[in-house]
Amino acid sequence: MSIGTPLTASATRALLLGSGELGKELTIALQRYGVEVIAVDRYPNAPAHAVAHRSHVIDMTDSVAVKALIAQERPHFIIPEIEAIATAALADIEAEGSCTVVPNARAIQLTMNREGIRTLVAEQLRLPTSAYAFAQSFAELQAAVDNGIGYPCFIKPTMSSSGKGQSMVKTPEQLAAAWDYAKSSGRVDTGKVIVEAKIDFDFEITLLTVRALAADGSIQTSFCAPIGHRQEHGDYRESWQPQAMSDASLALAQDIALKVTTEIGGLGLFGVELFIKGDQVWFSEVSPRPHDTGMVTMISQAQDEFELHARAILGLPVNTQLSTVGASAVILGGIDAKGVVYEGLAQALAEPDTEVRLFGKPEAFITRRMGVALAAADNVDAARQKAVKAASLVVVKPLQ
Ligand SMILES: Nc1ncnc2c1ncn2[C@@H]1O[C@H](COP(=O)(O)OP(=O)(O)OP(=O)(O)O)[C@@H](O)[C@H]1O
Ligand SMILES: [Mg+2]
Repeated sequence: MSIGTPLTASATRALLLGSGELGKELTIALQRYGVEVIAVDRYPNAPAHAVAHRSHVIDMTDSVAVKALIAQERPHFIIPEIEAIATAALADIEAEGSCTVVPNARAIQLTMNREGIRTLVAEQLRLPTSAYAFAQSFAELQAAVDNGIGYPCFIKPTMSSSGKGQSMVKTPEQLAAAWDYAKSSGRVDTGKVIVEAKIDFDFEITLLTVRALAADGSIQTSFCAPIGHRQEHGDYRESWQPQAMSDASLALAQDIALKVTTEIGGLGLFGVELFIKGDQVWFSEVSPRPHDTGMVTMISQAQDEFELHARAILGLPVNTQLSTVGASAVILGGIDAKGVVYEGLAQALAEPDTEVRLFGKPEAFITRRMGVALAAADNVDAARQKAVKAASLVVVKPLQ
């Protein structure tokens, strides 16, 4: 693998589809190797736009717009950061053979729709997942729950992320509202919802799994230490690394992650979401890209998840080792306002081994992630406490 000089005829160009906080960190990682980065999002001044060579604002679900931009920019790598993109266009581009879709177009297609990845993992790979069914009508949903899924259960649009359109149903009376919510709040209405039996887990983890080239040119899979996290309304609030778990459950988790990522293929980092109870492990879902809960690696690993993704994509060696116990806590907007002001940074950073990233998003919403606090400590409890405290000290205010 050789890398050219950005903005010249030899440039190695990467086009990011999605330019949020994860894309911003990935852009910085790629920039460090002299990759020319073009950041794309649906709105101007998205986080990665601030650090890329160029930026574009397009409707990324529009095949024609995506293809036109790719023809204009002629990237060597297309790196999807979000799920809501015209995946069929990526499949066409990949088939033309002139650039690499990271990790590959099929991975992007499989994971953008819960039906694709769930069916592959549960029915083809026969790995453990929650009991599930798909429903195209309320009657089908009711029948699926009555005939085996039971209560409590989760109803989710087949195309959605960050908990959108998702609800937990505890009693039969709540089912109709969950159906309506899933139908109206998905990213794209596929006409289908997934219903999953609730797994009564002890804790959940993200197992960051990297497929990278070894010295002999073969693809090698390596794992980061498991990341524990806490979710609220289907969105992450805190994560920490390492999550303590039994040797048996870790071995099972790695085995599941290896099988899923090997089936998906390509080079890059994956976030494998798993539920753990005792020595039992269930697959939940996988992101073929850095994971929001993996932001903790910005403090806990010498090579964070963005560096690992960049290296894997470029064919460079990776090291997934943990360097310290760490934690992350998100900084939410707390208000709906444009051009907000952040106060309390000095207080948040007063504690040693504490860091804050502010994403610079042009508009805050009450539950929009505007930044993240990171902390290192001797143990997970202390790191979590420090990160949560630092996050709470950053105050988001409207422009006076
Ligand atoms: N079957 C289940 N059993 C128990 N808990 C579940 C189940 N499904 C979802 N959850 C809980 O809800 C959270 C979000 O679910 P899921 O990851 O499927 O949604 P998502 O919209 O894809 O979220 P994200 O994009 O943030 O990963 C999970 O991390 C878990 O805490
Ligand atoms: Mg998830």
